[in-house]
Amino acid sequence: MSARSLSSLARPRGRDLSGEELEAFLAELADRPELWIDLVAHDASQRQYEELLSDAHLTVWLICWMDDQDTGFHDHDTSSGALAVVGGRIREQRLVLDGPPVERLFAPGETFGFSPADIHRVSHAGEDPAVTLHAYSPPLLRMGAYYIAPDGVLARRPMSPAEELRPLALAGSSAGR
Ligand SMILES: [Fe+2]
Repeated sequence: MSARSLSSLARPRGRDLSGEELEAFLAELADRPELWIDLVAHDASQRQYEELLSDAHLTVWLICWMDDQDTGFHDHDTSSGALAVVGGRIREQRLVLDGPPVERLFAPGETFGFSPADIHRVSHAGEDPAVTLHAYSPPLLRMGAYYIAPDGVLARRPMSPAEELRPLALAGSSAGR
């Protein structure tokens, strides 16, 4: 699997993509399982990531989920993004300071987007393993993971996309892999 495999998909060239353009790209990719189906592999110990494409304006990932695997609350720094569900079910939560998170469930065929302004948490839902496609533009170079410090203050931990997002312990002491 390589960038060449995805090069046949229509998308704007030579510039970053908007949120709507990312969702449209993923909807087309979701309809082309021959481009990613052989990379689907689940592991109960952690989410499985495969990079499908990376260039100056776009990164695309396949992620496999099971057993309530969970990113914790995070942002995507300066990147916009989109997620398409192609198997199983996924839950997205948005942090609300004075109430329970706003929650949405997504099933195969459904896509949603997020902007640099958004903080969200994505987790596996339901019994069956899930498979999602993710696109980020500009390419995801940094993220922020949120946690509650011992004094109750909300804090942000800058992260590299090479680190695995997961719910952070109090004080953020066990963040990352
Ligand atoms: Fe995210």
